[in-house]
Amino acid sequence: MNKRTILHHTRRLVQVSGALAALLASAAAWGDGDAGRGWARAQMCAGCHGIADYRTAFPKVYSVPKLGGQEAAYIVKSLQDYKSGARKNATMGGIAATLSDQDMADLAAYYAANEHPANKVVANKDATTKGQQ
Ligand code: HEC
Repeated sequence: MNKRTILHHTRRLVQVSGALAALLASAAAWGDGDAGRGWARAQMCAGCHGIADYRTAFPKVYSVPKLGGQEAAYIVKSLQDYKSGARKNATMGGIAATLSDQDMADLAAYYAANEHPANKVVANKDATTKGQQ
């Protein structure tokens, strides 16, 4: 092999691994739930589900279930049931109606991975930043 051929092969290798990396990245993004995107979405859930003692004062005082640490499959199922109306709750029905299947998977991945509030700040900030690149 002369120098040009080696250079050519090296370039080709770089192109191929670049394409592979892009493919892997997109597979990771559209496969199962992405906890980083879930973290971003969960900001609109935190008003009710992020309150200590799991109670909210709006519109009246009622208790709100804890989501952190629940099974991802259970969270997705609950959200789908609220959306379809199989599980009836005016508040969650309205919220679930705005969520896509991907949103539900992302939120479930996020909550399933975060039992303790202290874990989520560091872990998910990183994940969110990566997701936006
Ligand atoms: C306005 C307050 C409020 C907001 C905002 C809210 N929720 Fe809820 N959520 C509730 C209440 C109240 C319940 C209990 C409803 C019931 O009895 O079925 C609930 C129940 C749930 C459940 C079922 C939990 C269980 O243990 O069965 C899931 C899952 C859930 N919410 C996810 C979410 C997600 C994800 C978001 C953000 C996209 C969100 N909620 C935003 C008030 C809220």
